[in-house]
Amino acid sequence: MRSVIASIVASTCLRACLAEQLPLAGSHHALVPDDAPSYRSELLSLHKSLVTIPSVSGNENAVGNFVVEYLTDRGYIADIQFVPKRNNTQGDKERFNVVAWRGDSNPTPKVLVTSHIDVVPPHIDYGIEDGPVTKDTRISGRGSVDAKGSVAAIIIALEDLLSHDRVDGSDVMLLFVVGEEVSGDGMRYFSDSLKNMTEQPAFDAVIFGEPTENKLACGHKGGLFGEIVAQGIASHSGYPWLGKSANELMVHAMAKIFATDLGSSDLYGNTTFNLGRFEGGVAANVVPEHARAGIAIRVAIGPEKGGGEIVRERVQKILNEIDEDAFELISSHSYGAVDCDCDVDGFETAVMNYGTDIPNLAGDHTRYLYGPGSILVAHGPNENLTVGDLETAVEGFQKLILHALKA
Ligand SMILES: *[C@@H]1O[C@H](CO)[C@@H](O)[C@H](O)[C@H]1NC(C)=O
Ligand SMILES: *[C@@H]1O[C@H](CO)[C@@H](O)[C@H](O)[C@H]1NC(C)=O
Ligand SMILES: *[C@@H]1O[C@H](CO)[C@@H](O)[C@H](O)[C@H]1NC(C)=O
Ligand SMILES: *[C@@H]1O[C@H](CO)[C@@H](O)[C@H](O)[C@H]1NC(C)=O
Repeated sequence: MRSVIASIVASTCLRACLAEQLPLAGSHHALVPDDAPSYRSELLSLHKSLVTIPSVSGNENAVGNFVVEYLTDRGYIADIQFVPKRNNTQGDKERFNVVAWRGDSNPTPKVLVTSHIDVVPPHIDYGIEDGPVTKDTRISGRGSVDAKGSVAAIIIALEDLLSHDRVDGSDVMLLFVVGEEVSGDGMRYFSDSLKNMTEQPAFDAVIFGEPTENKLACGHKGGLFGEIVAQGIASHSGYPWLGKSANELMVHAMAKIFATDLGSSDLYGNTTFNLGRFEGGVAANVVPEHARAGIAIRVAIGPEKGGGEIVRERVQKILNEIDEDAFELISSHSYGAVDCDCDVDGFETAVMNYGTDIPNLAGDHTRYLYGPGSILVAHGPNENLTVGDLETAVEGFQKLILHALKA
């Protein structure tokens, strides 16, 4: 592992640029001893630091530095893996994945536990409800749920297992990636870096931290993202038969796509179609020559490799039925529903309608998807979770790590 990953552990520069860890402090947040686990204050402090540092995709440098310092201070080996900048306009600092473990300098980890350190815009400040901290205390801020709640819970879960000698440090590797919210470039880069190695590590299991309301996800829908472009012929709006309206074609096509069953399954329900952007034409009195629709389809059928193509063919067929020549369906990639293992005692199960980095990591490993907080508030202005959600997640990640190591 170390031969491929630039080993820049605790270099002077890194330490110099590190964001300070923010103490939880605050006299009105005195801990309530009753049902508080021993790690509560460490968990909340770590979560606060992570959420406080802005890390919108493309600008993950500061939070990456924080994670490296946090882990190296606690005896981990933390390697950083530079991921190419997204484009010239985004951030002026390097961005990197953090790969960490405790123990052997040449580990052969059986289990990888991973989440992402980037968030969607805009940055929203950290907030915690006033009063004594209890399990019901709400914590808000961008990333509090997606996915810094998972990042904090994963780190504390492993720390607690290690400090009680319940796992061997070399068996468990941590991976915190950049770019999940945009293109998955961080996880793809990590996946490629494994392929480059002479002795590829074979993880028995990979645990992905994303908001599942602490339910163990049996999988998530696939996706097909892209654009439909319609080409018409411009003419005077008083003589529309002289032209061909790209908008009219597009409206017919969209209506038909909405009315068509694009594929459903018992586990994932219906494939859903979102017409997220729609533009076309140049003026009210001109028959429009061009129309364009930005689409996101959530694919409810498998297989993971190919399920997206089946849906694409169904959409293409509809477009052809409307007009053989006018449409182009442009999509960079698609995938079918992504199954995960949810056969572990002690968890409620669910399926998710969102995408994750799971398909971006190649390999023949058992996959788990789990984490605190609700996707229904992730990406929104009211993103929040409770102290109890975070603490339950620590226990949940521990159960999954122990289960995966036993299997
Ligand atoms: C860079 O990314 C931003 C945000 O995604 C986008 O608005 C901009 O057009 C991109 N620039 C280039 C040169 O690709
Ligand atoms: C993998 O190896 C190729 C060829 O040597 C190289 O171009 C590429 O950057 C490497 N990728 C990673 C992620 O290390
Ligand atoms: C799926 O779509 C069908 C119509 O095609 C509808 O009757 C059904 O209620 C939908 N199921 C869900 C779970 O939305
Ligand atoms: C906090 O999140 C929950 C979902 O977990 C949501 O129902 C609630 O409206 C949010 N609260 C605030 C104050 O934003």
